[in-house]
Amino acid sequence: PRSIWLSRHGESEFNLTGRIGGDSNISERGEAYARALPELMRKSGIPENTKIVIWTSTLRRTIQSARHLKAETHYETLEWKALDELDSGVCDGLTYEQIAEKYPEDFAARDEDKYNYRYRGGESYRDVVIRLEPIIMELERSENVIIVTHQAVLRCIYAYFMNVPQEQSPWMEVPLHTLIKLTPRAYGTEEQRFKADI
Ligand code: G3H
Repeated sequence: PRSIWLSRHGESEFNLTGRIGGDSNISERGEAYARALPELMRKSGIPENTKIVIWTSTLRRTIQSARHLKAETHYETLEWKALDELDSGVCDGLTYEQIAEKYPEDFAARDEDKYNYRYRGGESYRDVVIRLEPIIMELERSENVIIVTHQAVLRCIYAYFMNVPQEQSPWMEVPLHTLIKLTPRAYGTEEQRFKADI
């Protein structure tokens, strides 16, 4: 059966300083993950003669993370704006500490209802779920895709395929430097995780 592979981008410069959003480059460790990704994919088991397509967002950190995978495997790549990270609006580029200080009411409101909270000038998880609809539709009729994207976006895609109510997507555990392989089975979606040794 066909599988879907999911991965966050490798650690970014912004991850290192705890800032959200932005369009930073991957860090040295992130680059090590990008280099490890082709082997991780092989380890996860790819059916013979299988053509795989790489989907990334339009942001640097996902494109850089897929670079070696693309070069070594010659998989085709597609960049989707709809896979860009949840837009944190006026909070883009801030740390959570700075957000709590500058926008205390917003910070509390998000804590209260993380799924519905929409950043000023930005998005909520609910908004992301809606903009992912075309992605999900395309995925449903595609064979063997690896998606390299962002935490919030992956949480929503993951919840969808694991049949978890979308309201719970903000709390899905999608760690860095871990390849997730999902394979639909008769009884539900089989999940395997492969952690990079970096
Ligand atoms: O920058 C956004 C993060 O990837 C999402 O994290 O929704 O838990 O704040 P959060």
